[in-house]
Amino acid sequence: MSACLDIANLSAVLPNGQRVLRSVSLAVQPGEVRALVGESGAGKTMIGKAVLGVLPSSVRLVEGDMLLEGEDLGRLQPKARRTLIGARTALIPQDPLTALNPSRRIGPQMTDRLVRILGWSGEKADRRTRQLLDEVQIRDPERVLKSYPHELSGGMRQRVLIAAAFAAEPRLIVADEPTTALDVTVQKQILRLIAALQREHGTAILFVTHDLGVVAKISQKVSVLYAGKVVEEADTAALFAAPQHAYTRALMAATPRYTDPFASLKPVDGAVLAGLAAEIAAADLAWRRPHG
Ligand SMILES: Nc1ncnc2c1ncn2[C@@H]1O[C@H](COP(=O)(O)OP(=O)(O)O)[C@@H](O)[C@H]1O
Ligand SMILES: [Mg+2]
Repeated sequence: MSACLDIANLSAVLPNGQRVLRSVSLAVQPGEVRALVGESGAGKTMIGKAVLGVLPSSVRLVEGDMLLEGEDLGRLQPKARRTLIGARTALIPQDPLTALNPSRRIGPQMTDRLVRILGWSGEKADRRTRQLLDEVQIRDPERVLKSYPHELSGGMRQRVLIAAAFAAEPRLIVADEPTTALDVTVQKQILRLIAALQREHGTAILFVTHDLGVVAKISQKVSVLYAGKVVEEADTAALFAAPQHAYTRALMAATPRYTDPFASLKPVDGAVLAGLAAEIAAADLAWRRPHG
């Protein structure tokens, strides 16, 4: 069986030649949750956008392959690629407010997407939308469907977007820090909800987060990203039991109790970062030669 998502040696550069992704390889197996963890600026969102085909125009993919259920995205024509990605993937975004159109009611926003991407009838899309609002434990669907985004709380908006993501039965969901913008108490509910729907629907998730506590709760596999480079990947339990890479250990040491959302973060060990930076600079130099 082919992986749900298979990224191999993916590199991306900015116009100034700076590499933002450095030969990234990672796979998500069907029905599995893989966490992608790293500090702000590591390139987590960039990887998610590359998978979803929505990279900013300034970012250029210069090498590597991305396979979605065995289909090589790089070999497809743009239109076929967009269709495939639209049908098989979905995004749960970091900021639920900006992900919704402020001037349209929730109901049509949810059903239109199903009609447009999957070609469903309005009636079928409407039924499916209501079913999913029930699954995300929205108790007053009529009110929510008629609401504008600003009339809902942050937690409710994220429930709506989780419902929208699962509604089309994607094979892969990219969840990009889906709890970061929410209050701490709501974060826990939303995380539990995503985990429950993921099990129920058997959807593979690439779960982007900067938070090791979230990694421990949600994922079976984890990739640790630093400066656009995967420095370690492991089964989640194995990573916490015996982190192999100095950066992973430093990241853990900087999170006093990674299961406690109230614990304050300490900076990652400076000597470890300096060592990594030197390692990456040397690798970039070697990489630039064949790539001009
Ligand atoms: N639109 C953009 N154009 C150019 N560089 C960008 C853009 N968005 C992000 N970057 C840069 O790419 C790197 C990775 O960013 P990002 O993927 O957003 O990190 P993360 O999600 O891990 O915090 C950062 O150095 C960031 O400054
Ligand atoms: Mg990000």
